[in-house]
Amino acid sequence: MPRPRILVIDDEAAIRESLRMTLEYEGYEFVGAATGQEGLALAEREAPDLVLLDVKMPGMDGLEVLERLRHVNDTLPVVVISGHGTISTAVEATKKGAVDFIEKPFASERVLVSLKNALDTRQLRDENRSLKKAVEVRHQMIGDSRALQQVMAAVGRAAPTNATVLIFGESGVGKELVARTIHRNSLRARDRFVQVNCAAIPEELIESELFGHEKGSFTGATEKQVGKFEQADRGTIFLDEVGDMSPKTQAKVLRVLQEGEVERLGSARTIKVDVRVIAATNKNLEEEIEKGHFREDLYFRLAVIPIHVPPLRERPDDIPLLVRHYMDFFSRENNVRSKRITNPALEALQRYRWKGNIRELRNTVERMIIMTGSDTVDLPDLPELVRSPAGAAPAKLPGDGEGGAKAGTLREFKENAERAFLVGKLRENGWNISKTAEVIGTPRSNLYKKLEQYQIAQETDG
Ligand SMILES: Nc1ncnc2c1ncn2[C@@H]1O[C@H](COP(=O)(O)OP(=O)(O)OP(=O)(O)O)[C@@H](O)[C@H]1O
Ligand SMILES: [Mg+2]
Repeated sequence: MPRPRILVIDDEAAIRESLRMTLEYEGYEFVGAATGQEGLALAEREAPDLVLLDVKMPGMDGLEVLERLRHVNDTLPVVVISGHGTISTAVEATKKGAVDFIEKPFASERVLVSLKNALDTRQLRDENRSLKKAVEVRHQMIGDSRALQQVMAAVGRAAPTNATVLIFGESGVGKELVARTIHRNSLRARDRFVQVNCAAIPEELIESELFGHEKGSFTGATEKQVGKFEQADRGTIFLDEVGDMSPKTQAKVLRVLQEGEVERLGSARTIKVDVRVIAATNKNLEEEIEKGHFREDLYFRLAVIPIHVPPLRERPDDIPLLVRHYMDFFSRENNVRSKRITNPALEALQRYRWKGNIRELRNTVERMIIMTGSDTVDLPDLPELVRSPAGAAPAKLPGDGEGGAKAGTLREFKENAERAFLVGKLRENGWNISKTAEVIGTPRSNLYKKLEQYQIAQETDG
């Protein structure tokens, strides 16, 4: 910290003067005020790091000054000095937010210790605050494409409710980020966000993981365990990869959703829980239902608010913002100066099809920052695959290229025709999926499936 600036508000000139000498000798910067009014003005103008405040002053007394200071700046530490050091004044000053209380007459050491403590605490708190800010940046949703705006609007509508949310989309599109954003903007934000990756937990353990177990309820259950649903009580549980749950677990989860209660394995007692459920999957649950892998009743319970996070190649407008965001982020992380990026490099990044979506883009940018020696990222600094046309999202009509000529079978011909038809209609409708689906008379989900099947991605001008 540079020289800390201390504002002393005291009506006695002799005390101000002695404090000035002590403080300046110890390397502090001194600012003095003879009245409460003057002190308040200086507090705003001089941005002090700490205030030493006398209680008994003519005009506005110290306690009132303290109260007003709190209104303008509730983090500024204030140490109160008083010759009338009755307990009640001390208590009141503390209640109003003073960090310490010193009685007159005081030894200068006493003042210095108090200052040091208060300033250290403040520095810690400031550091915490910037850490928290770094966390916020990490959880920020970047992008302003129409597609992402629609997602954000859905998040905004879902957040304040207790409704169950089902988030679906390809791997790496930001489903977890969406889930966390909903929780952070919900009334449950102060309580826990408990995440369970249903695909990563072995079948035989998932029930005890979710619902807990009593000691001795099965071989290996040497201690009792509180389940994730209980841990998430009053908060949010995030069931990630929900499409991978076994039928038995599905049945139990359904019961929690219906009854709001859980039963630990090996216990007959039911425990009430108040949990908001957010689920995510990269599977097509409707197909899983058809195949008999997923319970339809559970699906409807989960999908009260469905949110589809579209793949990155369908929202190329977000790519420049994301690239900038991650370039700055990884420059900070690696302690290097932020780099520039040339237009050809940015255009190549926008054309690439990003099968791994934002996760892949993030990793690519991280590598780019580490590997590029110069101040500017250019085309040769990108990974081979990103640069090559093979990696680009297809924008050509198969009919006007080699695809049509190669159609040897009736099926290939039909597929090519269907693909060309869809691309044409999408173009006509400005790549608006809902509108296109409506125009060609097919459900939106079906159109998404086709886009995936034919790997159709929105064309970019680059
Ligand atoms: N809009 C966004 N802005 C900034 N970062 C994002 C955005 N969307 C996703 N990310 C980042 O991309 C990475 C992948 O996101 P996330 O883990 O949420 O994806 P996912 O859909 O849950 O993937 P998977 O299906 O593989 O679990 C994370 O590092 C996340 O912070
Ligand atoms: Mg995820």
